[in-house]
Amino acid sequence: MKQIIEIEAIEKQFGDHVIIPPLSLDIQEGEFLTILGPSGCGKTTLLRMIAGFEAPTDGTILLSGQAIENLPPYKRDMNLVFQHYALFPHMTVEKNVRFGLQMKNVPEKEQKERAEEAMRLTQLTEFRSRKPSQLSGGQQQRVAIARAIVNNPKVLLLDEPLGALDFKLRKDLQRELKSLQRNLGITFIYVTHDQEEAMSMSDRIAVMNQGRIEQIGAPKEIYHEPKTMFVATFIGENNIFADGDACVAIRPEKVKVRPSEEPNALGYRLGRIEDTEFIGNAEKLYIRDTATAELIVAYQQGEESRHWHIGDFVYVGWSKEDEVTLR
Ligand SMILES: Nc1ncnc2c1ncn2[C@@H]1O[C@H](COP(=O)(O)OP(=O)(O)OP(=O)(O)O)[C@@H](O)[C@H]1O
Ligand SMILES: [Mg+2]
Repeated sequence: MKQIIEIEAIEKQFGDHVIIPPLSLDIQEGEFLTILGPSGCGKTTLLRMIAGFEAPTDGTILLSGQAIENLPPYKRDMNLVFQHYALFPHMTVEKNVRFGLQMKNVPEKEQKERAEEAMRLTQLTEFRSRKPSQLSGGQQQRVAIARAIVNNPKVLLLDEPLGALDFKLRKDLQRELKSLQRNLGITFIYVTHDQEEAMSMSDRIAVMNQGRIEQIGAPKEIYHEPKTMFVATFIGENNIFADGDACVAIRPEKVKVRPSEEPNALGYRLGRIEDTEFIGNAEKLYIRDTATAELIVAYQQGEESRHWHIGDFVYVGWSKEDEVTLR
C-alpha cells in the first residue's frame, strides 16, 4: 500500500505548554485509521494540524509526497468534519451540501450532479428540501458528512462525528460510515475516545496518550498484544500483575474459575468471590486472591457460567500463553 500522508516529527506547543511532543505517523492510501485516546490527549489538535487549521510548532506533513504544512486548509485536498459540526440553519439540506461547491465556483450542472451523488451516498435524497431543524441528530450528521464528501477529498478527517448521538444510532451510523468509506475508497482519519467504536470500524488504530502515540496497529493486534500499560488498560479490561521487573496483563475472558470442592489439578490460586455483576453476555466475577490479596476479574460465559455466589471459595488461573508482557 502507498502512503498518502506522512507526518514527520510534528510538534505543538500552546505558549510554553507542550501538547504534542514530536510525533511521526504514516497513513496509507484508502485506509480507515482511527486516533483513539482519552479526552484532552491532543486528538483534535493533531487533526487540526493535518487539516491546516492549526500550524505545527515544528515538523512536516506530506500529502502524496508534497509538503503541505504551509498551505491553507482549502488547498489541502482534504475535508474535516468537526466535533461540533455546524450546518447552515436557514439553508435546505441540498443547499448545505452544495455550498462549498458554490464557493469554489464549480459549474452549476456539476454542482447539481455532485450534490446528488453525495446525498444518495448518505441517504439524504428524500430530505433534500428540509432545513436542519427538521432533521434528527443522525440525519444532521449525515448532512455534515455529505458536505465533506461532495468535495471529493483525498482524505476525510472526522473528529468524533458521532459523539452527540445515542447508542443505537451511533451503532447504525458506524456501519454506514464504514461502508461509505469502503465504497468511496477515500482515506479516513477518524477521531474518537470510544474504544468499541475504534475496534469495530478501523483498519488500524493509533492509541494516543498525552500527545504521544503509544501503539499503532490493527484492532486485534491492539487488543491482544498491547505493548504498554496504558494501551492494556484503556482498551477493554485487563488484570495487571507484577512479574519481577515487568508487568503482565491477562484478559478477564481468559481467566478460568473452578469450584474449590474439586481437586486443584492445574495448580490455580485460591480466591474468594467478592462481588458478581451480570453484564449481559457474561457474568463478571471479582475474585480476591486469598494469599496475595490481589483482585482478579473474570468473565464467565456460556457453559462456564454457573451459579457463583459472593463469598464462594474458588480456584482461579489461566494459561501462561494468554499472558501479555507490558513495558
Ligand atoms: N488553542 C489552545 N490554546 C491552549 N491550549 C489548547 C488549545 N487547544 C487545545 N489546547 C489544549 O491542548 C490539549 C489537547 O486538546 P485537544 O482538543 O486536542 O484534546 P482532545 O484529545 O481532542 O480532547 P477531547 O476528546 O476532549 O475532544 C488540552 O489540554 C487542551 O486544553
Ligand atoms: Mg477533541
